[in-house]
Amino acid sequence: MIDQYTIDRIIETANIVDVIQEYVSLKKRGANFLGLCPFHSEKTPSFSVSPTKEIYKCFGCGKGGNVVNFLMEQEKFTYVEALRLLAAKYHIDIVEKAPTEQELVQKNERESMMIVANFANDYFINFLHNEEEGKTIGLSYFVERGFNEEIIKKFQLGYCPSGKHTFTDYAVSKGYKLEYLVKTGLTIQKEDWKIDRFSERVMFPIHNLSGRVVGFGGRTLQADKKIAKYLNSPESEIYHKSKVLYGFYFAKKSILTNDCCYLVEGYTDVISLHQAGIENVVASSGTSLTVDQIRLIKRFTNNITVLYDGDEAGIKASLRGIDLILEQGMNVKALLFPENEDPDSYSKKLSATELTKFIELNEKDFISFKTDLLIEDAKNDPIKKAQLIQEIVQSIAIIPERIIRQVYIQECSTRLEMQEQIINAEVNKIKRKKDEALQKRAFLEQKQKELPYQAPEKYDSKGEFTVAEQEIIRLLIDFGNTVLFEAEKEDEEDITVAEYLITEINADELTIHNKVYNKILLEYEEKLDKNIAVDQKYFVNHSDPEISKAVVDLISNKYILSIIWNKHNTNIITEEKALKRLVPETILDFKGKKIKEIIKLNNEKLKEASDKKDEEAVIDLMTRYKLLKEMEQEIASRLNKRITL
Ligand code: CTP
Ligand code: MN
Repeated sequence: MIDQYTIDRIIETANIVDVIQEYVSLKKRGANFLGLCPFHSEKTPSFSVSPTKEIYKCFGCGKGGNVVNFLMEQEKFTYVEALRLLAAKYHIDIVEKAPTEQELVQKNERESMMIVANFANDYFINFLHNEEEGKTIGLSYFVERGFNEEIIKKFQLGYCPSGKHTFTDYAVSKGYKLEYLVKTGLTIQKEDWKIDRFSERVMFPIHNLSGRVVGFGGRTLQADKKIAKYLNSPESEIYHKSKVLYGFYFAKKSILTNDCCYLVEGYTDVISLHQAGIENVVASSGTSLTVDQIRLIKRFTNNITVLYDGDEAGIKASLRGIDLILEQGMNVKALLFPENEDPDSYSKKLSATELTKFIELNEKDFISFKTDLLIEDAKNDPIKKAQLIQEIVQSIAIIPERIIRQVYIQECSTRLEMQEQIINAEVNKIKRKKDEALQKRAFLEQKQKELPYQAPEKYDSKGEFTVAEQEIIRLLIDFGNTVLFEAEKEDEEDITVAEYLITEINADELTIHNKVYNKILLEYEEKLDKNIAVDQKYFVNHSDPEISKAVVDLISNKYILSIIWNKHNTNIITEEKALKRLVPETILDFKGKKIKEIIKLNNEKLKEASDKKDEEAVIDLMTRYKLLKEMEQEIASRLNKRITL
């Protein structure tokens, strides 16, 4: 466990803009920062980060929270994991013992798997550099390939020793549970035997966005064609292949500064380009490129250049990649390396400057890319030419922005000597078909959503209350410590907004329906009783994620305006100046709604009683009804409202 003092220190030190910037490209907009939301797919930014409130909020999908919540959401960390990461980033010490076996069991599964992966990584690195077998076989292989010492260290390359289960035995002897070795895929277990997955392979660890090891690729050094050249960690709790890009952690900064990302095929391409000084490069290793991987890049830049091998497989993969990237509304360029070359091999033949030049000169937009690829065949063959145009038109039709489509249509027209109108018509035809298919799918999805009716949460059925309650809690959070009524005599004390609200609610025994709001109110009261000052930040950074989330929603909602405010106020003065009126009116409004509810209940009981001919109860309830009505009237008149009976 981390003690509260350390938690506070971590949260105080962490800079939310700094942290989020590692995942999202943010631009300053007034007092806030704006970017594309990492939690849902969007084209125009609605993800806002407030450095002063120390919160983030997406006005598109509604997600919001403090810096810790962000990491929990983004990395699927637990609360403690998120704190640990921040502590490490800001060099705040958390005193930690080496994990005992029991602690390992207690930690949650993901964390345990990460710990095991990290241990394995350290082990493979150490083995490569310090053990005889590692040095003579693994290290010398890397050196022969032309990797220098610095780059081997940077990418944490390693070696998994020979023997059926050398690594597994060692890990188990150190107290790591076989269960997690199997779950991370480092060990393969079948009934009565177990083996190391990566035995006798050089190791490429795969990092997530925050630099933690989540998986491995292992390359055999055998030339035997029957042995798979690469083995990769299997899909697991911590390693989702379709969402991870090899090298992203090392490329992030450079992608931002260059506003462009190079996409290559393999581990060794990434590493060699880094060594040549090109750092904005990632690979979709272990799988073919996925939409999730492209969206990950899109959060950092809108420009991708695909750098694939010049062989048939490379060409096919490039074409597929191009369409996927266009579909995400991004700019894509492509470059094929000469036959039998890939970025890795080619970077060894050229100097760093020559390589950069080569890329700059040879990268092409997708129309030129496709045209150049197919024009040789098509030149004198009208049928092939028509096919080529179809090919290109297909890609243009994928682009979501109309204006960009238009630019490409023009370019296509020039390059292929074809009338713009004809291409235009063709694009529109394909687009229409696509749109229809999409609409159909959306329709079906919507229908599916509507099917299972979900009962709303209890307090939500009292929607009216939720709004009134929301307003009370918002005032409490925003202005709790502000003095509402100043002391007029010497023996009096100032009354703060919080004191007023809490006293009023308690005096009439009004309960807050919403359980989260109620928790906030109770905690505020408890702290007030103990004379401990709490403020907005306290709740934003609350360890109960429900509370923190609710508060962030309250204070970040730019559309929220006091209901009473809307009804009665025409002059625009700041809320703070109007508190003297606003706070009592908010409470009154809440009370008014409560009374209505009580009257309704009372009437139901009255009907029951008269049905049963229970005279005594009827008289009782009638008296109560009169009283309640008077109270309602009183509240209404204090609120300047007229009641229609
Ligand atoms: N790959 C894989 N499994 C294989 C072959 C390839 O997962 N059996 C993945 C690896 O991520 C590899 C990428 O596909 O890095 C590209 O494959 P390839 O071009 O064959 O490998 P290189 O990266 O060029 O590796 P090397 O230069 O060592 O041959
Ligand atoms: Mn290669």
